[in-house]
Amino acid sequence: MKLFKLLSSFIFTFLAVSAVTVAQVPLYTFPEEDGTKNYYVKGEKGVKIFVEEKGDPKNPTIIFSSGYLTSRISWDPQWFDPEIYEKFHLIYVNIDNSNSYSLDLYAADLFAVFGKLFSEYDFKEKKIVLIGWSTGVPVSLNFMKNYSDIKIHGLVSISGLVNNTHNVDDKIAPFFQDMIDPQDNLFKVVSGIDGIFNLMSFKPFSDELRLLFLGSAAVAPLEYRLSAIGNVAEFYKTISIPTLLVIGEKDIIFSMDHSLYFASLGQNVETIFYKEVGHCSLWENIKVLNKDIINFISKI
Ligand SMILES: *[C@@H]1O[C@H](CO)[C@@H](O)[C@H](O)[C@H]1NC(C)=O
Ligand SMILES: *[C@@H]1O[C@H](CO)[C@@H](O)[C@H](O)[C@H]1NC(C)=O
Repeated sequence: MKLFKLLSSFIFTFLAVSAVTVAQVPLYTFPEEDGTKNYYVKGEKGVKIFVEEKGDPKNPTIIFSSGYLTSRISWDPQWFDPEIYEKFHLIYVNIDNSNSYSLDLYAADLFAVFGKLFSEYDFKEKKIVLIGWSTGVPVSLNFMKNYSDIKIHGLVSISGLVNNTHNVDDKIAPFFQDMIDPQDNLFKVVSGIDGIFNLMSFKPFSDELRLLFLGSAAVAPLEYRLSAIGNVAEFYKTISIPTLLVIGEKDIIFSMDHSLYFASLGQNVETIFYKEVGHCSLWENIKVLNKDIINFISKI
């Protein structure tokens, strides 16, 4: 009897604790056959760049650029939202796997993809908006800088950064250290990456979502993990196109100080703050973010 009591109170406590921790960012599954086309474009040094494309090419084009160590999958909640793909023409360029480990080569890859798009579609009357998440933002900015002949009509930065000298939070710094272990010890690297994804959102990712991110990050080679981000602040100051900065108030990767600094440099900036959201509003605040993206592009 005593044992039963003990056991049931244990189970009760366990359930109560799991009920408390249940507030997580869940994984969603999306339809496989959704009309996404994919193909390769030849880039610098003959590299094959994997591209995904969706939506009516007559609509304004959005070019998504991913964060460090992430892939198109990180944009699932936007890519599969009919509110977005019915209004816009979506392009994702998988620069993470194209052996381009510098901002300049990323820019060159994007340029190669534009070459193909320009040959197929009429861009005279069409708007192009770059949307970057995290390091996808310097990627987008550096593209604009290096290829200024291509007119970009709007820029969305989601938890982006504008220079590489921001302070890294003490809680997360050791995981970055492990992730770039010079011996490339896989155990260290993967636990470092796992630690980063653990802290990336304000509400924790569910195990499934964390594993999804971890799986695509763990295949990145050391050269990629070591690749430098660079400083795009000087260029950013010069642009006057409509720019939307989306900032998670609980972002541990880029502090509020950095986000406010970023905002202060811009000429034509709208800033939106999300409370109780960390570095990953793509998943943490899907409905609001998608609506904010649509509103922003509709105004341009
Ligand atoms: C991009 O810009 C950098 C420096 O601003 C320059 O060194 C590089 O050659 C440029 N690359 C291309 C492909 O234009
Ligand atoms: C980089 O950003 C920080 C804010 O996070 C700012 O204080 C610093 O002056 C910037 N440095 C450069 C070189 O732009």
